[in-house]
Amino acid sequence: MDALQALRGRRSVRAYDENKPVSREMIEAVVNCGRLAATARNEQPWEFVAVTNVTMRKRIADKTLHGKHIGNAPVCIAVFCADSKYYLEDGCAATQNMLVAAWALGLGTCWVAGDKKEYADELRDMLGVPSDKKLISLISVGYPASVPSPSKRPLQDVLHWEKY
Ligand SMILES: Cc1cc2nc3c(=O)[nH]c(=O)nc-3n(C[C@H](O)[C@H](O)[C@H](O)COP(=O)(O)O)c2cc1C
Repeated sequence: MDALQALRGRRSVRAYDENKPVSREMIEAVVNCGRLAATARNEQPWEFVAVTNVTMRKRIADKTLHGKHIGNAPVCIAVFCADSKYYLEDGCAATQNMLVAAWALGLGTCWVAGDKKEYADELRDMLGVPSDKKLISLISVGYPASVPSPSKRPLQDVLHWEKY
């Protein structure tokens, strides 16, 4: 799959094939694309925690508001950033890179909100991450059991040439 196909085809997956594990090599390939994302001043403030343990994934899922599927996905990648000026942009760029990379590898993902959520600090502590880091996102990862088709605003509605 080329980059454009992956960018166009990726959708958020919240139902996973729970009997099909995701290899360590695939998770490394996904996180490798996260660490290569654009980052202001090349600060690379990110840290990634890959959680496969089912008990921990279910604990994470229970803390979130809209991330119950984390408990049913074989892997959860938690993205943290140091508190730099552009921590949120950097962490989101890394997150999006990983969603697209995973899709290109045949995996489904769903971005679960982290930054500014009431559970952010508790999840950080649960995962043993130092308190100077901020939770950006939680990404559920696994082979899709089903892929939704949410409606998308058409290109001609969102692209403005020269002037709005
Ligand atoms: C910042 C951000 C936070 C999100 N948080 C959640 C979430 O907590 N739970 C969830 O199921 N999806 C979450 N999503 C996924 C969106 O619901 C999803 O991207 C959107 O519905 C568009 O669908 P698509 O990703 O399939 O194109 C989040 C996405 C972003 C960018």
